[in-house]
Amino acid sequence: MIKLGVNIDHVATLRQARGEFDPDPILAARLCEEAGCDSIVAHLREDRRHIQDRDIVLLRKTMKTRLNLEMSLNPGIVKVALAVRPDQATLVPERRQELTTEGGLDVIRYLKRIENVGRALESSGIEVSLFIGADKKQIDAAASIGIRMIELHTGPYAHAFRVHEDSKEFASLKAMTVYAQKKGMMVNAGHGLNYDNTHGIIRIKGITELNIGHSIMSRAVFVGLKQAVREMIAIIR
Ligand code: PXP
Repeated sequence: MIKLGVNIDHVATLRQARGEFDPDPILAARLCEEAGCDSIVAHLREDRRHIQDRDIVLLRKTMKTRLNLEMSLNPGIVKVALAVRPDQATLVPERRQELTTEGGLDVIRYLKRIENVGRALESSGIEVSLFIGADKKQIDAAASIGIRMIELHTGPYAHAFRVHEDSKEFASLKAMTVYAQKKGMMVNAGHGLNYDNTHGIIRIKGITELNIGHSIMSRAVFVGLKQAVREMIAIIR
C-alpha cells in the first residue's frame, strides 16, 4: 500500500500572510494524522517564508507519525536539522526567487556537499532522501555515495498530464523507479500531484510514499483538511 506524506507548508504560508498565529501548522499536522496520513512534510526554507523554526521543534514534540523535513544544504538549516532530529530529511535544491521547489537536486554537481551533509544527518539517526528528477545519471550519482532513498520529481509528469496521461514523463518515472529499486533504493515521489493525476502515479509499482501539499491544502479550503486528506488516501489506496 502506498503511503501518503502531507506537506503542510501552505498552512504556514497563510499564517505568515498575517504574521500572527492562525492557522497553526501544528494543528494541521494533527488533523492530517487523524485523517490517516503516514507522515508530515515541512520545508524549512532559508528565507523562512512559511515554516518557522518553532514549527519544526513543536512538530517533533507533538507528532505521532514520521516528520520529513525538506531542506537545502545550507549550513544553518543543517544545524537546525541536527538539533531537531526529524525522522527523515529530504534534501532539495532551493532558490530564493522560486515559488516552489522547481527542479530536482543536481547530485552530480553537488556530490561532495550532499555526501557530507547526508553523513552528518545519518550519524544523528536521520534517514536521508534526495529529491531528484527521473534521470539515470542522477540516480547513479546518488547510489555512488550510498544514498538509500530518493523522491522522484513528479512535476514534469503533472504538467504533461494536462495534455496526455500516458506521457513520456510518466514512462520515465516508471523506468527510473525500477532502475533505482534495482540499486537497492527506496523510491518516493512528489510535486504537483493532485486529485486528477495521482491515480496515474499509483500504477507505478514500487513507489513507497507520495508527498503531496498544494492540492490537498487547496481542497481543504472547501471541504476541510481531514476530508481533503481522506479523499487523497482513497485515491492512493
Ligand atoms: N516533494 C517535494 C520535495 C517538494 O519540494 C514539494 C513542494 O514543497 C512537494 C513534494 C509537494 O509538492 P506539491 O505542493 O506540489 O504537492
